[in-house]
Amino acid sequence: MTVVDHPLAQHLLLSLRDETTPPEQFRHVTKRLTTLLMVMATSDFPTEASSVQTPLEETEGRLLERPLVAVPILRAGLGMLDAVVEMFPRVRVGYLGLERDDATFEPSEYYAKLPPLDDALTFVLDPMLATGGSATAALRSVKAAGAVHVRMVSIVAAPEGVAALEAEHPDVDVVTAAVDRGLNASAYIVPGLGDFGDRLFGTEA
Ligand code: PRP
Ligand code: URA
Repeated sequence: MTVVDHPLAQHLLLSLRDETTPPEQFRHVTKRLTTLLMVMATSDFPTEASSVQTPLEETEGRLLERPLVAVPILRAGLGMLDAVVEMFPRVRVGYLGLERDDATFEPSEYYAKLPPLDDALTFVLDPMLATGGSATAALRSVKAAGAVHVRMVSIVAAPEGVAALEAEHPDVDVVTAAVDRGLNASAYIVPGLGDFGDRLFGTEA
């Protein structure tokens, strides 16, 4: 588990937490913060030796070796996708639609479309790791579809969600900008930042 405490990441996170941040700024900050998280999440990405001819001479370098797949969990994970596509233009993208029940907090899957995953490094994107129900279900789905090397990228995690993930998917590393105090009675992360999907898409009541 990696908590990205880079000063810029913490600066951007506080802006997301601020209830006065409007959706247009919330989207922009989410993208910038995801870029930082992905830099950390891919720091050990495998590379292979290659060479090019500069205008002066031939030189050695390294190229990304493995295919990369990003799987945003709808809706909120969509806010993280642009950053990944800009950093890795050849990324393949799968989608998982999961919605948490307001009373039981159990997720149900309403959509799944995944590319081939078996030889790829797969990054599941969901900004909020609360009870961990959605993340563990998503990881189950990508593994059932063949994913072997999987990483979870979130923005705010609760200790309960981290524990749930470690219990069911000990092989999956989590990269996040914060681990907060816990969950409230509605299973929202506290202090958290509220409902990420609503703040991203302007659907707050
Ligand atoms: C939110 C969030 C996560 C999930 C986290 O999604 O984006 O997917 O809750 O909670 P958990 O760890 O307790 O499962 P939500 O179900 O509200 O759907 P939305 O993104 O469509 O708003
Ligand atoms: N989903 C969110 O968007 N926020 C939380 O705090 C918990 C679940």
